[in-house]
Amino acid sequence: MRTQVAIIGAGPAGLLLSHILDRNGIDSIVLERQTRAHVLERIRAGVLEAGTIALLREVGLGERMDREGRLHDGSAIAWEDRPRFMIDTRKYTGKPMMAYGQTAITEDLFAARDAAGGKIIDEAADVQPHELTSGRPYVTYEKRGTRVRIDCDYVAGCDGYHGVSRTVIPADLLKTYEKSYPFGWLGIMSQTPPYPDICYCHHSRGFALASQRSPMLSRYYVQCDLHDKIENWPDDRFWEEFLARCPKDMADSIVTGPSIEKSIAPLRSFVAEPMRYGALFLAGDAAHIVPPTGAKGLNLAVSDVFYLSRALIEACRKGNTAYLDVYSDTALRRVWGAARMSWWLTMLLHRFPDDTPFERKMRLNEFDYLHASERAAASLAEQYVGLPY
Ligand code: APR
Ligand code: PHB
Repeated sequence: MRTQVAIIGAGPAGLLLSHILDRNGIDSIVLERQTRAHVLERIRAGVLEAGTIALLREVGLGERMDREGRLHDGSAIAWEDRPRFMIDTRKYTGKPMMAYGQTAITEDLFAARDAAGGKIIDEAADVQPHELTSGRPYVTYEKRGTRVRIDCDYVAGCDGYHGVSRTVIPADLLKTYEKSYPFGWLGIMSQTPPYPDICYCHHSRGFALASQRSPMLSRYYVQCDLHDKIENWPDDRFWEEFLARCPKDMADSIVTGPSIEKSIAPLRSFVAEPMRYGALFLAGDAAHIVPPTGAKGLNLAVSDVFYLSRALIEACRKGNTAYLDVYSDTALRRVWGAARMSWWLTMLLHRFPDDTPFERKMRLNEFDYLHASERAAASLAEQYVGLPY
C-alpha cells in the first residue's frame, strides 16, 4: 500500500490529523492497535479550551459539540474554609470554555472519517515505522496473520504514551523530563444531573473535582492513594468521601447515584524532546503527558495537530518544509506552557503526604493571592482558557 501520511494511533490526535489532512486533499492511513469499540469505551477528560472549540468548528466538527456540549465561563475552586474562587475565563479573556467529553469527540471523528471514506485499520498488531531518515519511510503491521507494508512520505506518531513511535527515536537523540505525583485520581461516572459548575475542591482530606458530560451524566473525582484499588471504593464510600471534601452548600446540592464507571489513574508530568525524528513526527500523548488537573491533555493533542497538519499540508502540497522544520520547537513551546500550568494547579490543589505545615501555609497564601489580585486571577484564567496557537 502507499499513502502520503501513515498515522499510528486512532485517538483524538491521529483521527483529527487524518480528518484535517483529508479536507486538504492529503491521503492518510490510520493504524490502530485496539478495536474501535475499545477506543470508544475509554473515558477521559472533557473540558475544551477556547482554541480547541474554534478549531473543531473550523474543520466541520462543531455541530454535535455545539448542540450537546455546555458552554461555561470558567471553573470554580472551593477551598476549605475560604470563599469560592472563580477562574473567570469570560471576564479576563472574553472567551468561554466547553464541557464536552473526549469520548464524544472521538465518536464525532470516527463518524467524519467514515463519511469521507477514510482508511482506519484497527486491530493492527506490531506496528513498526522503518527507514525514517533514509528519505523512503514505510510502516509495517500485522493483521490476521498477514504482514502489510505501507510506503509513505511521512509518519505521524499519535499512539499515546505507551505507543511504539517514541521508542524508535534513538535514545541519544531523545531527552525526556518526568515528574510523578504521590497520589492518584479515582474517577466515577454517574447518570445524575451534574453540579452546575466544574468545581475543584481543596480540602484537608484531599482534592476532589465535580465535572460533567451532559445534562444527565456527571463525572466526579477524589484524590486517592497511589496504590489504592477500586475494590476498596464501593459507591457509598466514594460519595461519603467526595461530599466530605466539598463545602456544605455544594455537598447539599450534589445529586448522588450509582456509578456506571469507576477507575483510578496515577498523575504524571512527562515531556519528550524533540517531537521529530527524520520523517516521524510525534503528536499528543506520544510526546507528553500532563496530570489531569486543568484538563490540558486533549487540548494539547489538538494544538499539536493544528501545528502538524499545517506543516504537512505545506510540505505535501508545495514541497515547502519550513513549517515541518519548526514543528517540534513550535509545538513544544505550547506544551511546556500547559505542562507548567497543570503542574502548578496540581501542586496548589492537592494534599501531599509529606507536606510540612510551612508548605501548607504557602499553598493557602497562594490561593488567597488569587482572591486578592486581579492580575493573579487574570493570569490563571488566560492559562486555563488556553494559550493562543
Ligand atoms: N500501534 C497502533 N496504535 C497504538 C499503538 C501501537 N503500537 N500504541 C498505542 N496505540 C493507540 C492506542 O490504542 C490509542 O487508541 O494509539 C492511540 C492513542 O490515543 P490516546 O492515548 O487517546 O492519545 P492522543 O490521541 O494523543 O490523545 C490525547 O487522550 O490520553 C488522553 O489525556 C489524553 O486527552 C488526552 C488525549
Ligand atoms: C473531567 O471532566 O474529566 C475533567 C474536568 C476538569 C479537569 C480534569 C478532568 O481539570
